[in-house]
Amino acid sequence: MDYFLKNKNKELDEFSKIFPILMNDIIYELEIQSFPKESIQWIETMLKANAFGGKMNRGISVLHSLELLKENCKLTSNEIFHAQILGWCIELFQAFFLVADDIMDQSITRRGQPCWYRQKKPNSQDFVGSIAINDAFLIESCIYIIIEKYFINESYYSKILNLFHKTSFQTQLGQLLDLINQPNRGDFSLFNLKRYNQIAQYKTAYYSFYLPVALAMLIAKINYEQAFSTAKDILLPMGEFFQVQDDFLDCYGSPAVIGKIGRDIEENKCSWMICQAILNGTPEQTEKLKKHYGIDNPSDVEIVKKIYDEINLKKVFKEYEDKSYNLLIEKIKSICIHVPQGVFLKLLSKIYKRDL
Ligand code: FPP
Ligand code: MG
Repeated sequence: MDYFLKNKNKELDEFSKIFPILMNDIIYELEIQSFPKESIQWIETMLKANAFGGKMNRGISVLHSLELLKENCKLTSNEIFHAQILGWCIELFQAFFLVADDIMDQSITRRGQPCWYRQKKPNSQDFVGSIAINDAFLIESCIYIIIEKYFINESYYSKILNLFHKTSFQTQLGQLLDLINQPNRGDFSLFNLKRYNQIAQYKTAYYSFYLPVALAMLIAKINYEQAFSTAKDILLPMGEFFQVQDDFLDCYGSPAVIGKIGRDIEENKCSWMICQAILNGTPEQTEKLKKHYGIDNPSDVEIVKKIYDEINLKKVFKEYEDKSYNLLIEKIKSICIHVPQGVFLKLLSKIYKRDL
């Protein structure tokens, strides 16, 4: 095993070790309120099933960013612990969104397991079903219990809270656009890249890219507004790039690798793939897509994928990926005056050419 891989595993091990501490904090909250043991068991199983076991990229990015922000100073153990806790809060934030998103998109699997609403309840043959809606809200509430416990005496406590609240609103607005951007099946009038970018920025980029870096900046006690807007200028396009990859993998990724089965075609989503198909296809191909896109039926999905192949969306994607990567590098090198470039280069290196 090479040095970097070993180092990465060690970092993820260290990060993983924090999760049980936070779980115990939540369980303690229930115990002091004399909650019955079934509810404690539910919370424990539900948090483990949804917040643990992802790639943990967003969570670990808080610590990575903090290390790069404080370039030449060794981090104190307290700073490291704070970065890991906020990293876990992002993982919880993501779990909150995904539990809800999977219900809304009628998804089947997530991280290689049935989506939470499709899993069996603990000790029962019944499905979790709509209880998952309440679970999503519970996961969100856990974030604020944890932040209060560990950050209430920090000067930047209210800033963390505002950042999470604002990011939640942004993500929900993105989800709204994602869900309503299909007036009627076969009507492609709203499928365009301008709208697509707005959806991607709101539903993905704010919470996946801006949030981890902005939290690290708060721990580093960076105060000047300009540093946050510089970070945003780079991280929002990076998040859009990430969502384009997600849409590509939704169609061409291997479910065994990405741990989920794509449903963008069935769900009539304003995906990057359909926007590009409309831009690059012939009028005949677009007409055919209008007939078969957005139908939950394998033979219609197959026809859509065949047209994507004819248009050679794999090549369109590859060109897009290289071009966006180069543009992002240029941007990082030109406008990075308030935050070390390494913060952004590290994040970009994690996602470029990813297959999961
Ligand atoms: C996943 O995108 C979508 C999100 C991470 C955003 C979800 C936001 C919400 C569900 C809002 C939650 C609010 C409440 C009040 C419950 P995707 O569907 O493209 O990703 P996927 O390919 O991983 O499914
Ligand atoms: Mg969705």
